[in-house]
Amino acid sequence: MKRKILITGSKGFLGSYFVKEFEEEEVIPITHQDMDIEDKDTIDKIIKIKPDLVIHPAAIRSPDICEEDKEKAWKVNAIGTKNLAIACSLLDIPFIYISTDYVFSGDKDTPYTEFDNPNPINTYGKTKFYGEIFTKEFCKKHFIIRTSYVFGEYGNNALTQIYNSLKEGKEIRLSNYHFASCTYAKDLVRKVKELSYTKLYGTYHIVNKGIITRYDFACKVAEIAGFSKDRIIPLNPEKFTAPAKRPLYSVLRNYMLELYNMDDMPFYEESLKRAINNLL
Ligand SMILES: NC(=O)c1ccc[n+]([C@@H]2O[C@H](COP(=O)([O-])OP(=O)(O)OC[C@H]3O[C@@H](n4cnc5c(N)ncnc54)[C@H](OP(=O)(O)O)[C@@H]3O)[C@@H](O)[C@H]2O)c1
Repeated sequence: MKRKILITGSKGFLGSYFVKEFEEEEVIPITHQDMDIEDKDTIDKIIKIKPDLVIHPAAIRSPDICEEDKEKAWKVNAIGTKNLAIACSLLDIPFIYISTDYVFSGDKDTPYTEFDNPNPINTYGKTKFYGEIFTKEFCKKHFIIRTSYVFGEYGNNALTQIYNSLKEGKEIRLSNYHFASCTYAKDLVRKVKELSYTKLYGTYHIVNKGIITRYDFACKVAEIAGFSKDRIIPLNPEKFTAPAKRPLYSVLRNYMLELYNMDDMPFYEESLKRAINNLL
């Protein structure tokens, strides 16, 4: 039987991948224009729609915008998620919340697992972490999915931005000292779909294997797509200025998937090749 699946942020980068992945089911795509999730009446609106599952990627995802408008970040990332989690608990339906590696401080030097304690260092991370707390507090049947540096062949994301800049011969300046995981949107939504058929509720890290800096990633894109790396400039700490502090090390390990023997996430180079092939 087809499930009625409500997807927030459906015109956003990841939201559009979710809409496509679940197209064989009855998808209710919700845009920002359809519903402002920070409003109190969100709960009643969702209850009226009566979905069987809610997937929630909508957010203010830019750490710098969150730093510059903290109240907006709290309203959307924390309160918006709280509203949706309450609605799901009242309907007794599963709630899938998309979270981030930025819930971690970056003080470790080995990959973070789901058993490590979050301790965010910027407003984006703090507001997303409260989204996690509200999800757990209000909705028993939840999946919290932490992912990192998501890329894909369409939409506004790291791969399309880097690819377009390389194509136009523009200079790209990227950090070469923040270490993280990266994730192909198609691999991510496929794995989320697989989890959505189970009752294995809880928190999951879902990333591709491998460790990158933003600079490494751009060099890999150039290598695969056949561009010169000459215009990709590594940024060191003294040159990196941004309103939001970033964790120096936020590599994730898909440990919960490993423990359930469900971790078949590919190495990022392999996924990046597939994404670039689709882009070309
Ligand atoms: N992209 C990444 O690298 C990455 C990494 C880790 C985690 N994540 C998480 O993944 C999720 C999706 O990110 P994304 O890259 O797809 O971001 P995105 O492209 O910016 O999409 C976010 C969507 O949320 C919508 N939205 C913003 N405020 C809203 C509100 N008040 N009510 C309803 N909708 C609202 C936006 O609509 P408008 O544009 O019309 O405002 C947009 O469509 C986020 O939760 C993010 O924290 C992303």
